[in-house]
Amino acid sequence: MLSREDNDLVTQTNQGTPMGSLIRRYWVPALLSEEIPAADCPPVRVKLMGEDLVAFRDTQGRIGLVGEHCAHRGTSLFFGRNEECGLRCIYHGWKYDVEGNVVETPAEPADSDFRKKLRHTAYPTHETNGVVYAYLGPRELMPLFPNYEWTQVPPEFSYVTKALLECNYLQGLEGECDSSHLSFLHRAFTNERNQPLYKSDTAPFYETEDTAFGVRLIATGFRRDRAVSDDEVHRRKQINPDYTRIRNARNNYLQDRQMQKKINFTGIEDFLNHDACATESMGAIFDRSREHLGVSDKAVIAVRRFLLTSVKEFNTGKEPPHILRDVARNWFPHIDCFAHILGREVPWRQHFNYLTATAEKENPASYTARRKAAS
Ligand code: FES
Ligand SMILES: [Fe+2]
Repeated sequence: MLSREDNDLVTQTNQGTPMGSLIRRYWVPALLSEEIPAADCPPVRVKLMGEDLVAFRDTQGRIGLVGEHCAHRGTSLFFGRNEECGLRCIYHGWKYDVEGNVVETPAEPADSDFRKKLRHTAYPTHETNGVVYAYLGPRELMPLFPNYEWTQVPPEFSYVTKALLECNYLQGLEGECDSSHLSFLHRAFTNERNQPLYKSDTAPFYETEDTAFGVRLIATGFRRDRAVSDDEVHRRKQINPDYTRIRNARNNYLQDRQMQKKINFTGIEDFLNHDACATESMGAIFDRSREHLGVSDKAVIAVRRFLLTSVKEFNTGKEPPHILRDVARNWFPHIDCFAHILGREVPWRQHFNYLTATAEKENPASYTARRKAAS
């Protein structure tokens, strides 16, 4: 349970809010590469932490992520012309490059240098394995881009997906940290529809620990070795071209009560929609002063505690945690997520002895060797 004040503190991320300022100090996913597939293709709208932005790929393939509303009189640059290394507003032709420079103001007198005094909102981006990340914080404090594990595999070994979740970010994040819901929300009674039968361990034992890269969550009881096949990308069938979901709150996720009796726990198709129904139906921003957490919520509690401590310390002037500035240490896989079945008698710490809490005493060769041995 959180106080109303802490709930507001941890959920509000617009510009100028404490949590918004903290998250803006990290690289965040902004859009998929497939949304702007080619040079000079149409721009797309991107909304990040309450900011209305437009992304485009210029003639040289560089990505621009700029404020949606033209600096002149506010017309949306989404309708703009993406041409000759810049995005041109359709109202009076002002043109912006990927850095936010106003490169042309054709309706102004030819000798005007007015445009040089202007700087439009533009954020740095980093594109890797089908995802475009953005940094929305102060330029002089920009960290290194982390060496995420999924950026280290060939592109065909991973797949990326995007879907609009109509609720606050924290509800989505808490769902990812809460693996006891697997045995209920995602349970299938038959595997006729190729749904995994998650039902054996409804009360797993959780551990959490703080590490040099964040909070590690372990519930005891990706693909690294081959490419992802097309039929494994089941979510494509659930998402509209604009990344809204076919099954959503307005159609009650197309829940089928007969299916709920006989086929699966929810009567709703696909994991994606199970999670969306559970987290969206809490309301846009759930009031956590009304909840009752149990032992199975240990991981959720740990992640919240980490976020609240971080934002409170950040508010007193402390650096955000785990900001990467040392190139020599950026080999460490900062997020490494996997599922593995071990015999009950095998302690996970002993088996996965490469999973240390800090990169400090590590070197890439020993780490890689021990990881290989464990897999
Ligand atoms: S509003 Fe964009 S050029 Fe005038
Ligand atoms: Fe889930």
